[in-house]
Amino acid sequence: MYVPFKELLTDAHKRKYAVGAFNCLSIENVMGAIQAAEELRSPLIIQLAEVQFPYSPMELMAPVYIKAAEKASVPVTVHLDHGQSFDTCARAIKAGFQSVMFDGAALPFEENVRITSQVVQMARSFGVDVEAELGKVGDTGIGAGESTGDASSADVFTDVEESAEFIALTGIDALAIAIGNLHGKYVATPQLNITRLKEINKRNNMPLVLHGGSGTSVEDFKSCIHNGICKINVATAIQIGITNKLKTYMETDPHPNYIDMKYKMIEASKEVVMEHMLLFESDGKA
Ligand code: 13P
Repeated sequence: MYVPFKELLTDAHKRKYAVGAFNCLSIENVMGAIQAAEELRSPLIIQLAEVQFPYSPMELMAPVYIKAAEKASVPVTVHLDHGQSFDTCARAIKAGFQSVMFDGAALPFEENVRITSQVVQMARSFGVDVEAELGKVGDTGIGAGESTGDASSADVFTDVEESAEFIALTGIDALAIAIGNLHGKYVATPQLNITRLKEINKRNNMPLVLHGGSGTSVEDFKSCIHNGICKINVATAIQIGITNKLKTYMETDPHPNYIDMKYKMIEASKEVVMEHMLLFESDGKA
């Protein structure tokens, strides 16, 4: 069933677990994610980032996401990940997304506040919820490349006082923070700054979001979900899971064919999503 973003995150916030937000680039991804959620009785967020539009066009994907969410026997929300402009957020709302992220983290603080506020105002009139970001989540590209950046550099972390100001000025529903997390493949397991997370959580009693979930240690995941992180984004891990499963299939099956490849993609998506839902303790929460 289609459930609003804010409702999913409010429950996660109250019961101290995180809803997995999985970037789904194909119908196989969507089917695997829904199967995982139904089997584990877990809420789910299906999302697509603007950088992924060239190979998974938003207007083509939206009806698949929405229909799959409506038909699911567990709560599902469809979310725009990393919208790069006001116009992209408006486009996603028009396509039926129930929540959008405007990512102005690379902008000066005032500019981030200005555009985020405009997005919130527009989204409110359609009953759509908004996530925004403050601080710099390192980037090697969602699902691409390897991170060589320094994830522990404190000057990119979300500032505690700025986070409170940002939330008050914009009226957002969830805040994505930077605590040493990176998008893409880590060269070494990151060590998240849980102290900073605790400070941000204490200062702002609202749902926080962790981007760059793939490759995070079990220990850090647990510390995150018990200290205010209510949504964790995962993209790269699914892509690796699918690639590895297809590689094994191609190498071992004497007569590989496309239909079986589709089944393998659904299976791999389901496995990766289930693994993360268990880590996020969202199983049994639907
Ligand atoms: P990963 O690809 O590192 O899992 O990051 C996903 C993400 O944060 C999407 O916004």
